Amino acid sequence: MGDLNQASGPAFAIREARDDDWPRIWPIIHEVAMEQSTFAYEPGMSEADAKRIWMVAPPSRVVVAEGGGRVLGTAGMYTNRPGPGDHVASGSLMVAGAARGMGVGRALTEEIIRWARQARFAAVQFNAVVDSNHAAIAIYESLGFVTLGTAPGAFRHPTLGRVGLRIMWLDLEATGPGTL
Ligand SMILES: CC(C)(COP(=O)(O)OP(=O)(O)OC[C@H]1O[C@@H](n2cnc3c(N)ncnc32)[C@H](O)[C@@H]1OP(=O)(O)O)[C@@H](O)C(=O)NCCC(=O)NCCS
Repeated sequence: MGDLNQASGPAFAIREARDDDWPRIWPIIHEVAMEQSTFAYEPGMSEADAKRIWMVAPPSRVVVAEGGGRVLGTAGMYTNRPGPGDHVASGSLMVAGAARGMGVGRALTEEIIRWARQARFAAVQFNAVVDSNHAAIAIYESLGFVTLGTAPGAFRHPTLGRVGLRIMWLDLEATGPGTL
């Protein structure tokens, strides 16, 4: 069990995801896919496809944020690219709609950074951050990520139309061990 976080809402803790967490992770992925505003996932993706994409095997890692007996959010963390790209980490995170705004997303992002630093990755790269995802961008920038570039109009948002997809980057070697 990770540290207990006490934000404005109920306490939650981040821990490794287990196989039997999947029935409580899937509704979060389904909700995010159906929203079509933050992830380029098929809204009608099957549970089996979602499980194959999300529940990555070691040395990749999946965690959940659990609070009040519920899975409030989940994150995956893994090598961004194989071979000559394998010194850069990547990750994904999602928080249940009802649990947003209480610090779970920030804690999951910090967990990705901690893991990447401990595994001695040189950087963390988020490959497709939707430009209108202000909450995610605020968290990432506050933790030191910068936007390297934006693919213009690469994501079709349900109400905003075509919006950009950012590549966001945290240089772990430049930020040093004093930070997360
Ligand atoms: C993005 C997401 C992970 C954020 O999770 P969360 O648990 O709601 O986030 P937190 O409560 O930890 O933090 C939200 C932060 O964003 C800020 N924020 C929220 N809405 C904001 C907005 N519209 N504009 C700017 N900042 C905003 C909050 O003030 C808070 O900042 P603080 O930590 O300094 O107080 C969550 O909304 C989510 O899962 N969305 C769907 C999936 C997704 O977008 N995943 C990330 C893909 S890149």
